[in-house]
Amino acid sequence: MPRAPGALPLVGHALRLWRDPLGLLNSLGRYGDLVRLDVGTLPVYVATSSELVYEILTAKGRSFEKGRFFERLRPLAGNGLATADGEYHRRHRRLMQPMFSRQHIEEYSGTMSRKAAELVESWRPGQRIEVERVMSTYAVETLASTMFSTEFGRPAVAAVRDNLPVLLNHLLVRAASPRLLDRIPIRPNRDFDAAAARLRAVIDETILGARDGAAPERGDLLSLLLAARDAEDDGRLDDTEIRDELSTILFAGVETTTAALSWTLAELGRHPEAEAAVAAEVRSVVGDGPVTIGDVPRLPALRRALDEAIRLHSVTLLMRRSTEPVELAGHRLPAGAEVAFSLYAIHRDGRVYENPEAYDPDRWLPERQRAAGLGREAYIPFGAGSRKCIGDLYTYTEATIALATILARWRLVPADGAGPREVASTIPRAEGATMVVTPRG
Ligand code: HEM
Repeated sequence: MPRAPGALPLVGHALRLWRDPLGLLNSLGRYGDLVRLDVGTLPVYVATSSELVYEILTAKGRSFEKGRFFERLRPLAGNGLATADGEYHRRHRRLMQPMFSRQHIEEYSGTMSRKAAELVESWRPGQRIEVERVMSTYAVETLASTMFSTEFGRPAVAAVRDNLPVLLNHLLVRAASPRLLDRIPIRPNRDFDAAAARLRAVIDETILGARDGAAPERGDLLSLLLAARDAEDDGRLDDTEIRDELSTILFAGVETTTAALSWTLAELGRHPEAEAAVAAEVRSVVGDGPVTIGDVPRLPALRRALDEAIRLHSVTLLMRRSTEPVELAGHRLPAGAEVAFSLYAIHRDGRVYENPEAYDPDRWLPERQRAAGLGREAYIPFGAGSRKCIGDLYTYTEATIALATILARWRLVPADGAGPREVASTIPRAEGATMVVTPRG
């Protein structure tokens, strides 16, 4: 099997993975469909083609568990939906799935729209906004009031917004390094522990605060989980399981949504023609009124702009561990093999996408997709198979409503040519995108 060049004694490729994960992962496709990396002394087999990643997630999904990456996440997100395996995962997924049904998303859409309207009404012409910060606050507040049916207080929103990135920035490194290193009292470890403690406190307060008022008929996730705590049957959950699911939703839902919204606005800011096309569509569909869920399927240009931003800035690294011997790309791996893949890298694969680094929303026009021969495995920002993201419909609804509300009223222009800096995290962050709020003519 091909091995990526540049391994050093003892550390292997670990230093490169820490310093420049996006660059390293993006470079592996040229060596083969399955490429070996050494993270310290641990061999990690990286799948670099979208067909192979799709096969791991679907047809061969039963031969894998979530493995090391997610075990290292457990101290933070506990044994929640994203980290759990086997029957435990199936039981929790069945319990939580209804909260992400079309009907519930429709109920949440009113809150998504109201919060977006409040945001754009608070802006003034000429105001400079830090896009990532603003979008992160919107994502936290919307998630809290739809999923936990609670208005997070300002300090709680700030605690999630400020501490979550600290944890997620360090997670990639932690997942790939020996557990022993967690205990060394160096700055990154101290920051990580302090951020984790602050977030745990916010989550505990949310559960405590909801306990009195929660009722299943309120139709939010926290009420459902609390009702399951009191159930008499096998579906019963304990307090730790509830805390773990809430943390998981925060970990999985905030940074990803923030990135999708921030990158779409930043990319449209850099591509005025695409921005004008989307704005014209929004104007004709939405007019001056509030954006509703009925508008969502009537905004295909906006959807293309969003899909393209998500393609270019997808989840950095995911991992699985084989539970039995398995054949991948003609290589036989033993049980216990650590397999990794980067959605970021497969979505920038020149073998699949023409001009892959370019932001080109119209590549998603049906006729261009057909001509380019893009199959369903080419674009999997939410994963695939039984571990596919539970929040995909939620995200598309929220992001479309938020973006349409913003673009109907304002044009966001990059300040002083300040573009965002792509910072590696679980999903690449759009750091430093300052934009000037300009009224539509
Ligand atoms: C742009 C936004 C989002 C992206 C790109 C995204 C991406 C993903 C991906 C790739 C996975 C699969 C991970 C794997 O296979 O190992 C996943 C799982 C998950 N996501 Fe998302 N996600 C997004 C938004 C959300 C939101 C808004 C929520 C919650 C409200 C959410 C909750 C989850 C959960 C709970 C899982 C684990 C599902 C399971 O294993 O059963 N995600 N997400």
